[in-house]
Amino acid sequence: MKFLIAYHTKTGNNARLAEAIAGELKNHGVDVEMIRVKPRVEVPIPLVGFQGQLRMTAKLKEDYDISGYDRYIFCGPVWAGGVSPVLKGLIGSSGCLDGKKAYIALCCLSPAVGAMNTLASLLEAQGALVMGKSRLQAQEAKNESIFVNYVKDVVEGCLN
Ligand SMILES: Cc1cc2nc3c(=O)[nH]c(=O)nc-3n(C[C@H](O)[C@H](O)[C@H](O)COP(=O)(O)O)c2cc1C
Repeated sequence: MKFLIAYHTKTGNNARLAEAIAGELKNHGVDVEMIRVKPRVEVPIPLVGFQGQLRMTAKLKEDYDISGYDRYIFCGPVWAGGVSPVLKGLIGSSGCLDGKKAYIALCCLSPAVGAMNTLASLLEAQGALVMGKSRLQAQEAKNESIFVNYVKDVVEGCLN
């Protein structure tokens, strides 16, 4: 079984999360690849809130091919209540998730229920089966044991 972790990060939190999830999957003997998805234009941090608020979808730096995996995990930030415009851009143009299992794991600040639901709807519109969605609070992520336990929970959820 081959996993892909596709993540977007601006300030590093979701990169750390994605890497830790990948490490834990490998500990379970799972074949896992990662893609860091980048926007065509990097928007300065003070402006990303507008992208979130306007519920924008970003154009991407390249055509990321995310086909050919058995399971997917998506990580990224939430800005002004809106899920990462970069993840939206990736999933909206993926066209290859029919019947594939997907898991959403976001590192953000708020409960982000709306953002997670938006991402889940986008995935389902591409035919994916959303196995789970959760978020790690960015402040809590600084606590090593909370971080490690969250990563373990995500991996457990993904392997079921
Ligand atoms: C302009 C701006 C707006 C944000 N708005 C939200 C928000 O509405 N909800 C939330 O949960 N987090 C919000 N955040 C926090 C980020 O989602 C959080 O810091 C995240 O972990 C950043 O991920 P990254 O380090 O991978 O880029 C906001 C951050 C910025 C910079």
